[in-house]
Amino acid sequence: MILGCISESADFEKRVMLNPEGVKKIKSLGIDVMIPKNYGNSSDYADDEYVKSGATISDNNLLCEKSDIILKISQRNLSEFKFKQGANLIIGFFNQADNDATNLVKQNKQKVFALNLLPRITRAQAMDVLSSQANLAGYKAVIDTAYEFQKALPMMMTAAGTVTPAKYFILGAGVAGLQAIATAKRLGAVVSATDVRLASKEQVESLGAKFVFVEDAEDMETSGGYAKEASDEFKKKQEILIKDTVKSQDIIICTALIPGKKAPRIITEEMVLSMRPGSVICDLAAAQGGNCAFSEPDKIIEKNGVKILGYSNYASRIPGSASALLSKNLLNFINLIFNKEKKTVEINHDDEIIKGVLLK
Ligand code: NAI
Repeated sequence: MILGCISESADFEKRVMLNPEGVKKIKSLGIDVMIPKNYGNSSDYADDEYVKSGATISDNNLLCEKSDIILKISQRNLSEFKFKQGANLIIGFFNQADNDATNLVKQNKQKVFALNLLPRITRAQAMDVLSSQANLAGYKAVIDTAYEFQKALPMMMTAAGTVTPAKYFILGAGVAGLQAIATAKRLGAVVSATDVRLASKEQVESLGAKFVFVEDAEDMETSGGYAKEASDEFKKKQEILIKDTVKSQDIIICTALIPGKKAPRIITEEMVLSMRPGSVICDLAAAQGGNCAFSEPDKIIEKNGVKILGYSNYASRIPGSASALLSKNLLNFINLIFNKEKKTVEINHDDEIIKGVLLK
């Protein structure tokens, strides 16, 4: 059995699904690994390291022809590759609405597994690519904003006088938001955060941040643990609260999302203009429509001296760590579908995890 990794879109994706450490583990299952030349360069993994771990260097076309399992992070540039009819499994990040990925299922009878669609259940945690990548995105957003901000983050007592700490406000206290809170706290900032799920209050406070919440509002957590769309009444109350909070902040990190919906618009143009020049907003939801009115995907916008960062594909901005975690997530998924005794792929279509990730 052969597992092949195909090249990612160079201008968009710096991560890889398998690092040299992962190659060793795949080989120990009795599966051979093929990679294209320079596969891991953008994550700082050299071809030599892959070869030492047991991978063979090939080209993308040969790889597609020979491999039983193919790894590809995003559907970008997927149509550049020629796949054999019904010959292989493709594992990556896809959506039912991605035409290239669903065409592979319909026309070529490939089995396409979208790891981003894993159910958020305890058994799937070790394979949960959304969590591993959101965690890094939350961390990196703090590092990026600290870099753009022209002042120090921690309080500094010096003989000349005191430097006041920077104020961070985190919108959405899910996986990315909680890591952003923890990172900003570690760097000495004063941090507050908001969410529409009441359960997040305790988590925010346990990290030493202040929880900002609309008084007497209903809890907007669904049975699946996600947020549901807020009512118009809640949105009005939230706007007043956020407007009041935002003007005293130095840095805002936006992570608020509602699955399957456009990102909630929380930071209005007026709110941005009320911030001091030099403030920074990082909108991790920019590709989903943005939590901030001025955000544009993959652009840095400046309004009245306030910088708004809209990088999409945030985890790709920290590709070394992101690839290492993706590789671990992937191995845990391979263990679910690979029968070690028979050395074959066995897919249990009744498994809740398989039902969640297999594109139709
Ligand atoms: P997400 O990326 O879908 O959303 C980020 C955050 O934005 C969420 O906390 C959400 O409540 C919040 N949000 C939505 N609309 C908002 C608004 N208008 N204002 C302020 N905040 C708003 O969420 P993520 O990070 O994927 O986590 C969602 C839930 O899933 C959490 O409860 C988390 O603990 C849970 N989870 C469970 C896992 C497991 O059991 N395997 C793994 C990972 C997460």
